Amino acid sequence: MNNKKIRVLGIESSCDETSVSVVEKSNGDYKVLSNVVKSQIEIHKFYGGVVPELAARAHSDIIDKLIVMALSDAKLSFKNINAISATAGPGLLGGLLVGVVAAKTLSYILNKPFIAINHLEGHALSIKLERSIEYPYLLLLVSGGHTEFTIIKGFNSYKRIGTTIDDALGEAFDKTARLLNLDYPGGPQIEKYAKLGDKNRFKLPMPLMNEKNAHFSFAGLKSAIANIVAKHRCTEKFKKDMAASFQETVNRIIFKKSQNAIRAYKKIIKNNKKIKIVVAGGVAANKGIRKSLKRLGEIEDCEFLFPSIKYCTDNGAMIALAGIERFERNKFNKLSFKPRPRWPLDKNAVFMKGKRTVEG
Ligand code: KG4
Ligand code: ZN
Repeated sequence: MNNKKIRVLGIESSCDETSVSVVEKSNGDYKVLSNVVKSQIEIHKFYGGVVPELAARAHSDIIDKLIVMALSDAKLSFKNINAISATAGPGLLGGLLVGVVAAKTLSYILNKPFIAINHLEGHALSIKLERSIEYPYLLLLVSGGHTEFTIIKGFNSYKRIGTTIDDALGEAFDKTARLLNLDYPGGPQIEKYAKLGDKNRFKLPMPLMNEKNAHFSFAGLKSAIANIVAKHRCTEKFKKDMAASFQETVNRIIFKKSQNAIRAYKKIIKNNKKIKIVVAGGVAANKGIRKSLKRLGEIEDCEFLFPSIKYCTDNGAMIALAGIERFERNKFNKLSFKPRPRWPLDKNAVFMKGKRTVEG
């Protein structure tokens, strides 16, 4: 193998997508050689959310086939791969075990390094799959399990400056969709209905909106919607108006909290460069949110960057890329490494879930 080329096979199985990818780094550039993704939406749809046990079974049913497919799509064999990386947390333990055990087994048999990846690090670095970016930059991660602002100061140097104290934003979309009898996952459904409704019909609460920090709270929003739903007939017109009101509320929350996050970033990172904000996670696909952030970018003279949707949602490519970054720094893991269902990117960040009062 050409010494300048590094190729890592990355495995993702932390939630409801099984994905395997081969990414190559050559002369400083990344290239996705393959990225196979199998979504479990059809399995979980019936339940209106991810069922952990079913998710784990579905990952284990398919993981070996996806590994073979990822290699074949990349037109490579195991001997061309330098290391195996897998998401080892945070996420659902059953799913994490499937990916981690597969990666460890390959590592042992092939005698190649095993690299445990923090899923959030994958999202944080995913933008590099498509363009180069200089550190530092700000990450807004909005997915079904996470909602946070983190300063990516450099590789392995992360400072969280905002997070949700209860539900993640994707969870709020999914729960609202469920209250309106819309399909799972809720985000795309809400977005579709919102376009057809009256955004001013329902006034919904915006918790923590007047606080100057970059923290979020979405649980109250869901309760307020549940109360309104209980008093109305769930007609198509009602669904559209509620979806539009919800989308409008979320747009305003994201706008305001991103503005607060930019202020917080400027206090910590003192340079004159234009701030870059990477928006990742499944909710980053939402056009209403994208539009409101682009407007904020113009007002604040910052640049919002959105990875392609296929790299915003969970994918093996970002795990392979994070694997390459670690491989280059000889950051390997022992086969005794245990998956971590809870694994913050910033080890010093305070656990905020359930905090009633929020500082700074
Ligand atoms: O990142 P992701 O694929 O999986 C993880 O949670 O890690 O994100 C899934 C979430 C779901 O909650 C889904 O409803 C939401 O992303 N989502 C959206 C949209 N597409 C997916 N939310 C709002 N608007 C969308 N267009
Ligand atoms: Zn994710």
